[in-house]
Amino acid sequence: MKCVDDFRLCFGKHELVPIMIGGMGVDISTAELALEIARLGGVGHISDAMLPTVTDRHYKTRFVKDKLRQYKHIAGNPDKSEVQFDLGHLAEATRLHVSRTMQAKRGNGMIFINSMEKLTMNAPRETLRVRLRVALDEGIDGITLAAGLHLGSFALMEDHPRFRDAKLGIIVSSLRALQLFLRKNAKLNRLPDFIVVEGPLAGGHLGFGMDWAQYDLRTIVAEIQQHLQAEKLEIPLIPAGGIFTGSDAVSYLETGCAAVQVATRFTVADECGIPKKVQQEYFKASENDIEVNMLSPTGYPMRMLKNCPAISSGIRPNCEAFGYILDTNGNCSYIDAYNRELAAHPDARKISVKDKICLCTHMRNYDCWTCGHYTYRLKDTTHRNADGTYQILTAEHIFHDYQFSTGNKVALPTQY
Ligand SMILES: Cc1cc2nc3c(=O)[nH]c(=O)nc-3n(C[C@H](O)[C@H](O)[C@H](O)COP(=O)(O)O)c2cc1C
Repeated sequence: MKCVDDFRLCFGKHELVPIMIGGMGVDISTAELALEIARLGGVGHISDAMLPTVTDRHYKTRFVKDKLRQYKHIAGNPDKSEVQFDLGHLAEATRLHVSRTMQAKRGNGMIFINSMEKLTMNAPRETLRVRLRVALDEGIDGITLAAGLHLGSFALMEDHPRFRDAKLGIIVSSLRALQLFLRKNAKLNRLPDFIVVEGPLAGGHLGFGMDWAQYDLRTIVAEIQQHLQAEKLEIPLIPAGGIFTGSDAVSYLETGCAAVQVATRFTVADECGIPKKVQQEYFKASENDIEVNMLSPTGYPMRMLKNCPAISSGIRPNCEAFGYILDTNGNCSYIDAYNRELAAHPDARKISVKDKICLCTHMRNYDCWTCGHYTYRLKDTTHRNADGTYQILTAEHIFHDYQFSTGNKVALPTQY
C-alpha cells in the first residue's frame, strides 16, 4: 500500500514532500507553521492578508495606530472613500513579514505567500502590486494567487527580475477560471508553475456559489487534467479541500496530481495562529455546527463555525484602522448593513447585524472561525484530556501522519 512519501513534488530538480499547507489569513498560517513545514521538506504558506496589523503584533510596528490617527475625523462618516493605504507602509509591512520568515527558513522545503485579490484595500491594483513585488524582493520561494481570478496579476510582476524564477501559481475552482487565466496571460509567455484546484469542502472563502454542494473536487480535477493533456500543458496540479488523511492524498497522487494542499488538520497545530481556546471550539464542533454562508462582505460564500462571535455582532466598522475590503469606491457591504441597523434602532445601546460581518475586525481578532468542512473530524485526530479539553498537536505530527499513514488511518499523538 502506497503512502504520500512514495511520491515527490518536483519543481525542476528541486524535490519536495508533496504536501502543501494552504495559506490561512489573517495570520492563521503563521510564519512558525510555514517554517516548520519547510523544515520537514514540504511547502508552507504565509499569507499577505492584513500584514500591517500582523507586523504590529509581531514586530511592534505602529501602522494601524498611524492610519487610525490619519483618518479618525471620518469615523462617523459612512463614506470611506478617503481611506487609503500608505503604499510605503504596506511595502514595509510586507518586507518585514516576508524577510524575517525567509531569513529563519531551514531545511529543504519551500515557503510561499498566499496573495488575496479580494483584499481590494480601496486601491486594488496598486496595493496588490506592492504586496506581490515586495514578496519577490524579499526572497519568497513562491506566490499562490488566491481569492480572485487574478487576470492581471502576472502582468503586475512581469518586469520583476524574479518573475521567471520564483514559483508562481494560482488557485482555481473550475476549468473555466483556469482557461480565463491562461488566455489572459498567454502573451506573457509564462505558464503558472502550479495550479491549486480547490473544491467546495475547503475552509475560508469558496470559489463557488451557495450551490457549492453540487460540486465535487475529483470531477473538477479530472476535467482540468483532461484539458491540460489535450493542450499538452505540463503544469503540476494540486487538489485541495477535504483531503483529510494520507490515503485521501495518495488517491489524488496516484491519478497524476503533483501534490495536495491541506489546511484544516493544521488549524489545531501548536504553530497555528488560532488562539488555543478557539482551537478547542474547532475540536468540539460537530457537523451541524458548521455552515457555509454569505456573511462575508467579499461576496464569496465562506465556511465557518456557527457559534463564532463574528456572527450577528454589530461592531462599528473599523475602516479607518483597517479597511482591507473597501472596494475601488471605498464601499464595503458591512458598512451598509451596519448603517441600516443603526438607522432602524437609533436608541439601541447595542445593535446586531445579521446579514454581514465586519471581516477585517473579526479576522484580526480571531473571532470569525472560518474552517474546512471536515473540522468535525478533528476530535478523532487527538486525545481528550482529563478536563475535557483536547490535546493540541504539533505540525510535525500532523505532517508526518499525512506523509506516512496508510489504510485511511490517522495516527494519534503521544499522550501527555
Ligand atoms: C482556517 C482557514 C483559513 C483559510 N484561509 C484562507 C485564505 O486566507 N486564503 C486562501 O486562499 N485559502 C484559505 N483557506 C483555504 C486553505 O488554504 C486550503 O486550500 C483548504 O482549506 C484545504 O482544504 P482542507 O482545509 O479541507 O484541508 C483557509 C482554510 C482554513 C481552514
